[in-house]
Amino acid sequence: MAYKIPFNKPGLAGDELRYVQEAIQDGHISGDGRFTKKCESLLEQTLGVPRVLLTTSCTHALEMAALLLDIQPGDEVIVPSFTFVSTVNAFVLRGARPVFVDIRPDTLNMDEGRLEELIGPQTKAIVPVHYAGVACEMDEILRIAERHGVQIVEDNAHGLFAQYNGKYTGTLGALGTQSFHETKNFMCGEGGALLINDPALLERALVLREKGTNRNRFFRGQVDKYTWVDVGSSYVPSDLLAAFLYGQLEARDRIQCARQRIWNKYRQSLGEWAERHGVRLPIVPQGCDQSYHMFYLLMPSLEERQGLIAHLKDRDILSVFHYVPLHLSEMGIAWAGGAADCPVTVDVSDRLLRLPFYNDLSEKEQCDVVDAILSFYR
Ligand SMILES: Cc1ncc(COP(=O)(O)O)c(C=O)c1O
Repeated sequence: MAYKIPFNKPGLAGDELRYVQEAIQDGHISGDGRFTKKCESLLEQTLGVPRVLLTTSCTHALEMAALLLDIQPGDEVIVPSFTFVSTVNAFVLRGARPVFVDIRPDTLNMDEGRLEELIGPQTKAIVPVHYAGVACEMDEILRIAERHGVQIVEDNAHGLFAQYNGKYTGTLGALGTQSFHETKNFMCGEGGALLINDPALLERALVLREKGTNRNRFFRGQVDKYTWVDVGSSYVPSDLLAAFLYGQLEARDRIQCARQRIWNKYRQSLGEWAERHGVRLPIVPQGCDQSYHMFYLLMPSLEERQGLIAHLKDRDILSVFHYVPLHLSEMGIAWAGGAADCPVTVDVSDRLLRLPFYNDLSEKEQCDVVDAILSFYR
């Protein structure tokens, strides 16, 4: 069913269609063409990352990360229970056991204070997810990881161009992953990127991404033919998608400006109402420059959350809940043994509601959403 005001709406921000046409005219629409390289260097330069590789999704970037860290059956990986399934599945695919950590009640990010009790001899990696593009407590997470010789993979699906104490999220661990799915700030339908912050991981990443071949070395003239040298898969996106994405990335200032305006308007228009009714709005700690990816409400109860979804639906507005605790899912219980203790995740999952948020959300549409919310408790 189509809503008058949907939760998300993909749109154009600049020259996406012209670039798609150029890619076709160039005669190169498979992977690693001109636009793939343009996106990668734009991201490398803006974020100050040694190497960025576009991938077919953030899910696939996470899968590459698990392969690059050589995750094996029996290894353990610490992940929040409050996340998308891919954060965990990428490591479970390699046979690792997920160890679920609860989230902080303020930012809904992994609770760094609970990490050390979960680290054991089998722990290979910690995967912080910067929820809603607000950074995790990375100083402490990095300190803990270093103390225990554990790698960090940042799932930065929500957080492109967010910062933590002046540094871009996704650039702080050995690897970072991005999503360009249609629900993200910058989109190409389905797409992602792997930020390779540890240059020692680059050569193998190029092989894994090219079906386990040394095709990339061949094109660099370093071998005279290319062949099968490792495991791998097809993680390179079409240049058609990269062309679309380049149009979006070029318009990043305009996109982020529009999203900041939308976020601030929700915050200003709903602040007093939220306080009056015990509704919690997003918290952005000092030192965090968020990505303006999402605006959520933490309603006082599950009943009120469901009530507000229905109230908005009656007014033709789609609002949606978010992650369901992974430690309580069928797979979570089977793989993690059901021992995880994540009360904040369970509570937040019941009460969280995301409001319509997309680059082209008009002032009129946003006023309608706000008015509908303000009439809920009347
Ligand atoms: C935290 C997180 N990680 C990973 C993903 C997967 O992204 P993709 O759809 O690009 O595979 C998502 C999807 O929204 C997500 O929310």
